[in-house]
Amino acid sequence: MLSLLSLHWASLQLGQAFPSTSDYLQRGWQRLLEEGEGCAECQPEECPAPRGCLAGTVRDACDCCWECANLEGQICDLDNTNHFYGKCGEHLECRLDAGDLRHGEVPEPQCVCLSHLALCGSDGKTYTQICRFLEAARAHPDANLTMAHEGPCESEPQITSPPYDTWNITGQDVIFGCEVFAYPMASIEWRKDGMEMLLPGDDPHISVQFRGGPQKYEVTGWLQIQGVRVTDEGTYRCFARNSVGEVVALASLTVFTPGEHHVLVPTLSQGQRGLGRVD
Ligand SMILES: *[C@@H]1O[C@H](CO)[C@@H](O)[C@H](O)[C@H]1NC(C)=O
Ligand SMILES: *[C@@H]1O[C@H](CO)[C@@H](O)[C@H](O)[C@H]1NC(C)=O
Repeated sequence: MLSLLSLHWASLQLGQAFPSTSDYLQRGWQRLLEEGEGCAECQPEECPAPRGCLAGTVRDACDCCWECANLEGQICDLDNTNHFYGKCGEHLECRLDAGDLRHGEVPEPQCVCLSHLALCGSDGKTYTQICRFLEAARAHPDANLTMAHEGPCESEPQITSPPYDTWNITGQDVIFGCEVFAYPMASIEWRKDGMEMLLPGDDPHISVQFRGGPQKYEVTGWLQIQGVRVTDEGTYRCFARNSVGEVVALASLTVFTPGEHHVLVPTLSQGQRGLGRVD
């Protein structure tokens, strides 16, 4: 009790140094009052039934009633003898991550998920870890969400970042990117409309690169055209394929010749297709 009081007093003295002082004080006071009164004899039948607890339930400070546990990312009590912020739910652990602090901030312990393994839900959606899955299942109890299997759901690729329409002047370099999430993993191919072959073909000023990432189950491809010529103008397509299916995203390249007089007008009728040109 004494240590609790002195900690509380210290927090008052530090004032602004604590990140969420008002929340901290409010919950602190509440807990102090509860503890100050001591824990009455536990009468489970008098406990309110906690509802809508997305991270499950935990015992309260008196180890008597069930109350909502804290969700992933919520602040928590690092030390089990404290009852300021509450305890983390199932598959979660209270951790202090001093890594990404801005200057002058006091580190806050947060609930983090113990698992980093993806799983596939009965809704056909991939959940990056069990904590996200349980949250979704508890948020929509009517949906009867269950785990279909470990690992991501098998489905056709999703293009998480497509290539964008671009323009440049002759002689400059142009790069298109294409980021793909897929399980099973996808392969990426680039094609130019009106041309039979896959890029780069035998064209020495075109190159294609791939890299795994940036996220798990992702692959990213780039198409680079060095020293663009007017003949490079056109529509380029990124095809992502796995054993389940294939998807495509496209972007246009417009090439200007320096010195010629051009007026850039947005081609509204073409929606996202970028800039048209009027000579
Ligand atoms: C969930 O399960 C209950 C009971 O088995 C059933 O009545 C209900 O229709 C199910 N809901 C969905 C969305 O499948
Ligand atoms: C044109 O190319 C240059 C380099 O080759 C690049 O720095 C510039 O961002 C490009 N312009 C556009 C609109 O992409």
